[in-house]
Amino acid sequence: MSKYVIGVTGASAQPLAKRTIELLLKNNHEVHLVLSRGAYEVWQSELGIQIPGEPKKQKTFWREYLNIMSGELICYKWNDNSSAIASGSFKTKAMIIIPCTMGTIGRIASGYSLNLLERCADVHLKESRQLLICPRESPMSIIHLKNLTKLAIAGAKIVPPIPAWYTNPKTLDDIIDFIVIRLFDLVDEELLEIKRWEG
Ligand SMILES: Cc1cc2nc3c(=O)[nH]c(=O)nc-3n(C[C@H](O)[C@H](O)[C@H](O)COP(=O)(O)O)c2cc1C
Repeated sequence: MSKYVIGVTGASAQPLAKRTIELLLKNNHEVHLVLSRGAYEVWQSELGIQIPGEPKKQKTFWREYLNIMSGELICYKWNDNSSAIASGSFKTKAMIIIPCTMGTIGRIASGYSLNLLERCADVHLKESRQLLICPRESPMSIIHLKNLTKLAIAGAKIVPPIPAWYTNPKTLDDIIDFIVIRLFDLVDEELLEIKRWEG
C-alpha cells in the first residue's frame, strides 16, 4: 500500500480526479485527498454535485459515489494547514494535482502556500519528493508557461491531460484512462483494471 496526496483544484476535467481516486482505492492504496475551494465550485457548476467540505462527510460521499470500500481514504478541509500532511515528516510516495488550475500553479511557483493543497505541493518540492501536476488551461499565457517552467525546474513533473489518437479511443473513459495511466507510469505504479495500449 503506497501513500499518495491527491490534490484537486477548480479546473475543468474533474472526471480525471474521480478516476485517479477510484483507481488508487481499488488498488488498495492510501489516499490523502485535498480539494481546493475552487474544486467544490467546479463540481457544483459542471456536474451539479455538492461535495461536502466536512472531512468525515466527504469520505462517506466518495465511498458512496465511487462505490468502493477498499483502500484507505482520508479527506481534509481545504484550509487545514495544521494537518499531518502539511509537514515534511509525513512521508508519501507522491503528490498528484489533477486537474490543476493556473491559479494554483502560480501560487505554488511563487512559494505562496495559501491553502493545504498548496502547502503539500510546497512540501513535496522541498523534500524532493515526486510532485505530478496535471495543468488544464488553453491557451496558456506566457505567465502560465513561465510558472510551469519554474515548477519543472524545481522538480515537478508537468503532465498535461492530452489524449493520444493512436490508441484509437472509442469512449471518453478510454481517453481518461490513457491520461491517468501516463501519470501512474511516472511513479512506477502498476494498477489493476487498466487496459494498456499494446502498440
Ligand atoms: C466551471 C469552471 C471551470 C474552470 N476551469 C478552469 C480551468 O480549466 N483552468 C483554470 O486554470 N481555471 C479554471 N476555472 C477557474 C478557477 O476555478 C478559479 O480561478 C479558482 O479561483 C481557482 O481556485 P483554485 O486554484 O484554488 O482551485 C474554472 C472555473 C469554473 C467555474
